[in-house]
Amino acid sequence: MKKFFITGSNGQLGRELTKQLNELKFPNVGYDVPELDITDYEASLKLIENENPDIIVNCAALTNVDGCETDQELAYQVNTIGAKNMAKIANILDIPIIQVSTDYVFEGNDNLGRPYIETDEINPQSVYGETKAKGEEEVKNETDKYFIIRTAWLYGDGHNFVKTMLKLADKYDQVSVVNDQVGSPTSTVDLAKAIINLADTDAYGIYHGTCEGVCSWADFAQEIFNKAGKNTIVNPVSSEEYAKTAGRPVAQRPSYSVLENKGLKNLNLNNFRNWHDSLDEYLEVLEEV
Ligand SMILES: NC(=O)c1ccc[n+]([C@@H]2O[C@H](COP(=O)([O-])OP(=O)(O)OC[C@H]3O[C@@H](n4cnc5c(N)ncnc54)[C@H](OP(=O)(O)O)[C@@H]3O)[C@@H](O)[C@H]2O)c1
Repeated sequence: MKKFFITGSNGQLGRELTKQLNELKFPNVGYDVPELDITDYEASLKLIENENPDIIVNCAALTNVDGCETDQELAYQVNTIGAKNMAKIANILDIPIIQVSTDYVFEGNDNLGRPYIETDEINPQSVYGETKAKGEEEVKNETDKYFIIRTAWLYGDGHNFVKTMLKLADKYDQVSVVNDQVGSPTSTVDLAKAIINLADTDAYGIYHGTCEGVCSWADFAQEIFNKAGKNTIVNPVSSEEYAKTAGRPVAQRPSYSVLENKGLKNLNLNNFRNWHDSLDEYLEVLEEV
């Protein structure tokens, strides 16, 4: 059985991956800052060499999309240099790496008139998207044994949109949510499963991994309220209107960043459910906690 080394193990995806690997009784170790700082190449090499894993899954990232606009150097260090370091180490140890990336590497203006597939041209519009796109490039430059899996609108055990909406619903009768950005809300449960399945192959390359189905953030919020029995009303606003009232720099986000899991479908490994079904399960689990 392969031993997994998980970076960013205290984040949403890192936690879910650890949980599923433990349930499957797969050997795994996970580290997060401060024990592992992926921007520190020498210290990371020492730690990973010592753990002697069979595969690295790089879940560590600076995921605060607006925060990356104000802290551009840190975003570059973590999302680009960190990814490069992990791939370089994977190459030295002659093991594969799974690098997690994002729909925000795409321009997202719906000029193709269809969901993005893995081979479509990328053109990020934000610092987050750009630093993640450069991270992909660095991984490809450092090793041949890479899987890059692009996901989107992720929620799991940690800070996320679903929890933010539920908190707002406890305080307000109405919330304003953007309705001109369309994507696919994705559960870490589905993504972690896909990662574990991919790790069992040597089908290296770029993959898209998002739940099936499409909605806007406003639709997503409305569905969260409906499913959770909240009466809060969603007031749909444009991204422009939202940015004016945010009181802080707001990154430009794709208006259409729907991804098709073409590569996973080709491998018969597309385990992603419709986003409604994954959200149902998530809300049930939240209620039990
Ligand atoms: N969240 C989304 O909506 C979304 C969408 C598309 C793609 N993705 C990608 O999916 C992956 C997992 O996302 P997620 O939602 O699980 O992110 P997350 O919850 O923010 O977890 C990322 C983890 O990485 C840690 N980290 C930050 N800098 C680090 C460093 N220098 N060294 C080691 N660890 C560091 C973070 O610690 P701190 O919390 O202390 O910073 C955090 O625990 C990321 O690659 C992300 O880019 C996420």
